[in-house]
Amino acid sequence: MAEVVLEKVSKVFGAARAVDEVSLEVRDGEFFTLLGPSGCGKTTTLRLVAGLELADSGTIRIGSRDVTRVPPPERRIAMVFQNYALYPHMTIAENISYPLRLRKVPADAIARKVGAVAEKLRIEPLLLRMPSQISGGQQQRVAVARAMVQDPQVYLFDEPLSNLDFKLRLEARRFLKHIQRETGVTALYVTHDQTEALALSDRVAVLKDGRLMQVAPPEEIYRRPANAFVAGFVGAPAMNLVEGEVLGSRFISGKFRVEVGGEPGLASGAGATLGIRPEHLELKPAGAGALAGIIDDVEPQGHEQIVTVLVNEVPLLARVIETQRLKLGEPVSLRFDPSALHLFGPDGNRVN
Ligand SMILES: Nc1ncnc2c1ncn2[C@@H]1O[C@H](COP(=O)(O)OP(=O)(O)OP(=O)(O)O)[C@@H](O)[C@H]1O
Ligand SMILES: [Mg+2]
Repeated sequence: MAEVVLEKVSKVFGAARAVDEVSLEVRDGEFFTLLGPSGCGKTTTLRLVAGLELADSGTIRIGSRDVTRVPPPERRIAMVFQNYALYPHMTIAENISYPLRLRKVPADAIARKVGAVAEKLRIEPLLLRMPSQISGGQQQRVAVARAMVQDPQVYLFDEPLSNLDFKLRLEARRFLKHIQRETGVTALYVTHDQTEALALSDRVAVLKDGRLMQVAPPEEIYRRPANAFVAGFVGAPAMNLVEGEVLGSRFISGKFRVEVGGEPGLASGAGATLGIRPEHLELKPAGAGALAGIIDDVEPQGHEQIVTVLVNEVPLLARVIETQRLKLGEPVSLRFDPSALHLFGPDGNRVN
């Protein structure tokens, strides 16, 4: 068990700064997730921790050891890949025991270890089959089993659930979290799926273009996004973000005006982005809410509807839990609690 510390770690591929001065501390026993869009440097960061890539600058520590130049087998990490990387010509038992056989662990110790892990992951009946003879969800468990037998100090997961269908993914996600809690092994997890990140993690680091945007527990990432990028990336449907400026205590974008309260912390006339989540906008009859608009689109989702309301030419999404019939073009209004507003300054950083 160990903490993982990155200090100003950078990795450049040609013109791409895949990882740009990233500093972070994953605590001992923590489930820590790197979240961000495709190409933001998640896999590269993980590969740097694994030792599959060497950092151009910066240091990486696992526990109290500086591992920046230590080869992968000596880092005491175990990685689970998106495609599981099972060897097709080996049985499940051979796949799981492979890292131990590489290390020349005695056969009886291997058999004990594989048996114990297989029992824990409930894959004992599969041990003599080939990878092609088991389902995707079972392959995923086998990949986790292969990581577990190594008794690593740190698990590295690179989108390990993305090959599973929706239902299996939820199941596998709970299972992973359960296993991680039970073993208490530090986990560094990579995903582009914000729902998964929020559901699994003790803390989340949001990355963009190789840089850290915010590191915080899931609730804080959702409630107080540090900048407009995080605000727009985390949450589904995404937060409404409107670009405009602040004049006095008002946010203005063309004819769209919203009172943002006393001291918005921005000079009058400064460019700003106003944010409000669709779940914080209440759809009301015309005249009842602060913002008047008309219904522009309705997207039924079974248990709720995502309604687009045009407010002075600005489209705002609202989540409506009731399944009442809504008519396109109907005048309505939106009500919200002013404390649910987010305001970001000209540099995109949060100001309230
Ligand atoms: N071996 C490589 N050679 C050249 N460029 C690379 C290499 N590996 C990654 N990159 C570049 O570095 C950047 C970060 O890539 P990385 O694979 O870390 O992103 P990612 O966040 O894991 O994306 P995804 O969600 O698509 O897996 C990208 O611009 C990518 O093209
Ligand atoms: Mg990746």
